[in-house]
Amino acid sequence: MANILRIFSVIFLLAIPVSSQVSELIYAGFKDAGTNITLNGVAEIQKNGILRLTNDTSRLMGHGIYSSPFKFKDSTTGKAFSFSTSFAFVVVPEYPKLGGHGLAFTIAPSKDLKALPSQYLGLLNASDVGNFSNHVFAVEFDTVQDFEFGDINDNHVGIDINSLKSNLSDVAAYYTEDSGKQNLSLKSGKAIQAWIDYDSVQNVLNVTISPSSKKPRNPLLSFHVDLSPILNEFMYVGFSASTGLLASSHYVLGWSFKVNGQAQALDLASLPSLPGPKKKHTGLAVAISVSVVIFVISSISLAVYLYLKMRNADPIEDWELELGPHRYSYQELKKATKNFRDKELLGYGGFGRVYKGTLPESKTQVAIKRISQDSKQGLREFVAEIASIGRLRHRNLVQLLGWCRLRGDLLLVYDFMANGSLDKFLFDEPKTILDWEQRFKIIKGVASGLLYLHEGYEQVVIHRDVKASNVLLDSELNGRLGDFGLARLHEHGSNLTTTRVVGTLGYLAPETPRTGKATTASDVYAFGALLLEVACGRRPIEPKAVPEELVLVDWVWAQYREGKLLDVVDPRLEGRFHEDQIVMVLKLGLFCSNNEPMARPSMREVVRCLDGEIGVSEELRIHGGMERGKVGHVEGFDDFVHSFASSSSSDKMSNPYSFTGNREMDASFASLSASSLSLLQGRGETR
Ligand SMILES: *[C@@H]1O[C@H](CO)[C@@H](O)[C@H](O)[C@H]1NC(C)=O
Ligand SMILES: *[C@@H]1O[C@H](CO)[C@@H](O)[C@H](O)[C@H]1NC(C)=O
Ligand SMILES: *[C@@H]1O[C@H](CO)[C@@H](O)[C@H](O)[C@H]1NC(C)=O
Ligand SMILES: *[C@@H]1O[C@H](CO)[C@@H](O)[C@H](O)[C@H]1NC(C)=O
Ligand SMILES: *[C@@H]1O[C@H](CO)[C@@H](O)[C@H](O)[C@H]1NC(C)=O
Ligand SMILES: *[C@@H]1O[C@H](CO)[C@@H](O)[C@H](O)[C@H]1NC(C)=O
Ligand SMILES: *[C@@H]1O[C@H](CO)[C@@H](O)[C@H](O)[C@H]1NC(C)=O
Repeated sequence: MANILRIFSVIFLLAIPVSSQVSELIYAGFKDAGTNITLNGVAEIQKNGILRLTNDTSRLMGHGIYSSPFKFKDSTTGKAFSFSTSFAFVVVPEYPKLGGHGLAFTIAPSKDLKALPSQYLGLLNASDVGNFSNHVFAVEFDTVQDFEFGDINDNHVGIDINSLKSNLSDVAAYYTEDSGKQNLSLKSGKAIQAWIDYDSVQNVLNVTISPSSKKPRNPLLSFHVDLSPILNEFMYVGFSASTGLLASSHYVLGWSFKVNGQAQALDLASLPSLPGPKKKHTGLAVAISVSVVIFVISSISLAVYLYLKMRNADPIEDWELELGPHRYSYQELKKATKNFRDKELLGYGGFGRVYKGTLPESKTQVAIKRISQDSKQGLREFVAEIASIGRLRHRNLVQLLGWCRLRGDLLLVYDFMANGSLDKFLFDEPKTILDWEQRFKIIKGVASGLLYLHEGYEQVVIHRDVKASNVLLDSELNGRLGDFGLARLHEHGSNLTTTRVVGTLGYLAPETPRTGKATTASDVYAFGALLLEVACGRRPIEPKAVPEELVLVDWVWAQYREGKLLDVVDPRLEGRFHEDQIVMVLKLGLFCSNNEPMARPSMREVVRCLDGEIGVSEELRIHGGMERGKVGHVEGFDDFVHSFASSSSSDKMSNPYSFTGNREMDASFASLSASSLSLLQGRGETR
């Protein structure tokens, strides 16, 4: 036995190419790097020797990784080695003040990172982020504030271990000898030098940056960490960068690295530099030297040309520049949708038509929402939509890729969702039946997207129109919330007043028409309706149903009280579901559908319930939303029915959830009112 072990260990030792192991590298420009730098994604080494990780096109990523691994720890003691690196980088954003997304120095187990762009910086993906088995170490130079990962601002340096939630981060800055700490913009378009030093005896990792090659004495970040459990024996080192909705070009000018020693110093002055802005008007200068007459003629024609061009090109207004997301040309979108022909029409969203398109250059499929010219609200809603959704980033929100405006035509370009909207899988005669696991995943996704809107952003974002047709499914059937056309931004804590009641019958919280206010609680109400319809496979208000079943929440509540909750479950599931889960979802749906806004859970609680962290039945009691004696509800509810009946006839006709004729509608409201009143009394009796 001992012999066998010895033979094995000899074979193992022989397998490691100890002699060829490099422990140091230096690149003053990457001109001669050849195949020693492995390039992935859109990364390339330019003719001038600069390693360009990304250009300023949306949603790209690029990697430049040294092609052989470095030995990072002693295999017998398992202790990581010290290392040191220095490099110079430049970030040139597409719009002067808006970077996207950033770059990172990384030490990873593979040179082929299976990662995502945008906030993932090309380092990790949505399924492995935060997992201890990643063995990914990075120092991020991040120019977008991403709330999902708790970023402090849109100009910070952070130390990341297996996750993009930094273990330590700080606003980008450097210390000078005489004037103390100076802020430094990472996205200024100027070269920045960075140093990362790890001391494995003291277990200290320092990160230092500076606009010059003189290394400041004090590091920006100093983190006490033993990297031994994070680093494998052999690891790859290099750079990763990504762009998202906002984009920057990310460049590395030079790089030195050394294990067990000090990396060689780099001198910014001797590194290749980016070409400066091009000189203009040389054409005119030539014209002058040839002849004054030609000059006059050419300037007149230039003026005419510019005038014509401006008339057609649609001047960019101030607010448009502040928006950030990629601005597409109208020609590009016209081509993408084959001149907006009807065959490409996907459907009608809030305020306009949605077309399917294929962008001519990248060949990516997109959904293009064209806001109708005759919509009075048009421009204002458009601005609200870009300003809000353009900065929101979450995997359960439909990503806005960019936009375009040509005079009255307003166009928004979104990620194309291959599977369309959720309602098509639930109601009437769906072609495909989603199984319970798929439904549960969708619900959890939407809940986390809505939580992000409510709490994850610097301002509270009320969605206002959560419903099955606004839940879109990507190719992996992940639920993503779309249609932020109705969303408004509200500063955290301010009065959430609005002027116009929007929403969809069946999803609209009873207090909303009365108070005229959309709140996080009214979104929760709509989410409750969504939970019930996903579990029951029918609409919140089903005109075709028998009167007792007309209003879904009433029916579910009645069955719950009689202990027959499972009777409401979608028969198309054919009994194949996780019983505890479906009961939890139904109860949670009822809980969210409470007529008293204060008694509804917050999205945070909803997400915790869905994750199994807290039970829903206890919560139902704790919140006491169904106690007797709150007469106010009943009055409020009457108001709701009245105001709704009067407002709905005009607004709701185009809505897929509305009724077809007035007579039917009146009848429905009558029974809605009656059954819901009895429901309120019934709820009282159960306590
Ligand atoms: C590439 O790396 C090897 C060591 O792994 C070194 O001998 C060689 O000179 C390098 N080539 C270039 C072009 O830098
Ligand atoms: C940026 O790179 C992408 C991918 O290589 C390419 O398709 C695109 O045309 C480039 N954009 C610009 C502005 O050069
Ligand atoms: C995420 O990264 C892990 C680890 O690199 C990889 O195994 C997995 O396939 C990746 N997932 C996706 C969806 O790319
Ligand atoms: C972490 O990754 C490992 C291996 O890829 C996987 O088996 C494990 O389930 C993951 N853990 C979590 C919490 O995702
Ligand atoms: C770094 O942060 C991750 C979570 O983001 C955590 O799991 C890990 O323990 C932290 N590591 C150290 C050394 O603090
Ligand atoms: C540096 O930036 C931070 C965050 O943006 C800001 O709070 C601080 O006032 C700035 N300091 C100076 C000296 O400008
Ligand atoms: C890290 O910075 C501290 C000063 O904050 C310094 O004392 C220490 O020597 C530095 N360590 C390394 C490895 O650079």
